Amino acid sequence: MNTSKITRKNFLKVTCGTSALMFLPGFFLNSCENDAAPNREADPSFIPDIEFELTAHRSDVSILPGAKTKVWKYSGKVISGRKDALQTLDDNYLGPIFRVKTGDKIRVRFKSELDEITIVHWHGLHVPEEMDGHPKYVIEHGEKYVYEFEVKDRAGTYWFHPHPHELTGPQVYSGLAGLFIVSDKEEQKLNLPSGKDEIPIVIQDRIFDSDNQLVYINSPMDRMTGFLGDQIVANGKSNFSLDLDTKAYRLRLLNGSNSRIYKLAWSDGTPFTVIGTDGGLLEKPVEKEYLTFGPAERFDIIVDFSDKEPGDEIKLISLPFPSTISGMGGMMDGGMMGRGMMGGNRNSDQSVPDMGSRLQLLSINIRNKVASSFRLPSKLSTINYNDPKNAVNYNDPKKFVFGMGSHMRWTINNRTFEMNEVADYEKVKLNTSEVWEFVNGGGGRGMMGGMMEMPHPVHIHGLQFKIIERINDGGFDETFDSFKDGFIDEGWKDSFLLLPGTRVKVLLRFKDFTGMYLYHCHNLEHEDMGMMRNYLVE
Ligand code: C2O
Ligand code: CU
Ligand code: CU
Repeated sequence: MNTSKITRKNFLKVTCGTSALMFLPGFFLNSCENDAAPNREADPSFIPDIEFELTAHRSDVSILPGAKTKVWKYSGKVISGRKDALQTLDDNYLGPIFRVKTGDKIRVRFKSELDEITIVHWHGLHVPEEMDGHPKYVIEHGEKYVYEFEVKDRAGTYWFHPHPHELTGPQVYSGLAGLFIVSDKEEQKLNLPSGKDEIPIVIQDRIFDSDNQLVYINSPMDRMTGFLGDQIVANGKSNFSLDLDTKAYRLRLLNGSNSRIYKLAWSDGTPFTVIGTDGGLLEKPVEKEYLTFGPAERFDIIVDFSDKEPGDEIKLISLPFPSTISGMGGMMDGGMMGRGMMGGNRNSDQSVPDMGSRLQLLSINIRNKVASSFRLPSKLSTINYNDPKNAVNYNDPKKFVFGMGSHMRWTINNRTFEMNEVADYEKVKLNTSEVWEFVNGGGGRGMMGGMMEMPHPVHIHGLQFKIIERINDGGFDETFDSFKDGFIDEGWKDSFLLLPGTRVKVLLRFKDFTGMYLYHCHNLEHEDMGMMRNYLVE
């Protein structure tokens, strides 16, 4: 048991801050007051292998040529322990990259210099409840929150970002996000490309005004569908390119976009060789013509340029795909939302490429001819999956319907987020497994409800799960067919794309920690609108 000391000073109510970047129509807001949990201080009995400092603050960085952009960012340093456990990026809004090993005990002294509430969530990590960044733990300007945990996760690409209720979208958009990379012995034995040959790539989309400043949501409709930008920003830069040689590289891709889905492909048609996803290495490499890449998902890929020549250019692109938003159509034309935006993917700003537009994400310029002899092992990892038949509800999966509720809000089982509430079916027992079935569709019975369908990137906190079945019930076959060969449902996942008209069954195992964790839509505008719930491990 953790016997950490906790400050008791915070009995005050925290009022939601308002970001300068955001526009919140009042009807999406719940009560804007949270009962603040006490800030967390260091536990002297916890002896960390590595101690970090991490600060969220304002900054100016170069994203586009010309004027710098005002952003919010995480900066950090190693206070004690291995200095290479944190890789900082110069002149970039992305946070430093944590590089730790399974078994490391880490302490992160997080401090906020922002003018609104915030808290850090470690996306994909299996940590105690107090360390998971639930919005009830938000801190205010000048306050600290000390994280202390052992890294129990497998080698893989995880990430961290803010999680204050109703403000996650604008805060991530402002720049608050970073990678958390874990390695372990099993991975080290594979001799995968490392050092400069291992390249993390964070893909996001943004809109800039004529002074190079960030523009966020500007219409209620954009909140409904989720933010879409007109500029792709990779590793914090527009028109991102890499100069590489004729050898093999390991690329760790994160879709850090608020809501945009990509259909990843190499411009020259080379298939992807995928070695890992959200929860680390796959058992063996998987080849794919294209990859379906929903918000918050990660792909760990090997790309070998040994058959290329100096001067060659290869682009990472997003292939076109059909409209992913359906419903309402003509009914909304000139109606209460104006412009009839619900009929397709149209963002209210017509210059913004629709979801499904062909996009260039980054380019790779081949520079030097070098000798290369990399061979990817055919076996990567040993994974001991739990048998779904051991699930306590194997014959009766719990259902979670992601859809439009009765008041034009995105909901889960027609409910929205409440800070401390857990429904009976959201309670689970420690050391058991359950099957949860996520359903896209249904939704409310309101006048407009149940009529709009969109993909929802489902994410569950605190654990990695196994996708056991993906079922297409029809009705949106064109969308399903355009994405279905790009799913990687092998391996451990913490996020997956739930397409309209489909159901996905996952197997979860609740171990090590009791407490309240979140599950939600990782379309961050949907999440902020309340498409998020707690589950409780007892
Ligand atoms: Cu990526 Cu609830 O988070
Ligand atoms: Cu998460
Ligand atoms: Cu959603």
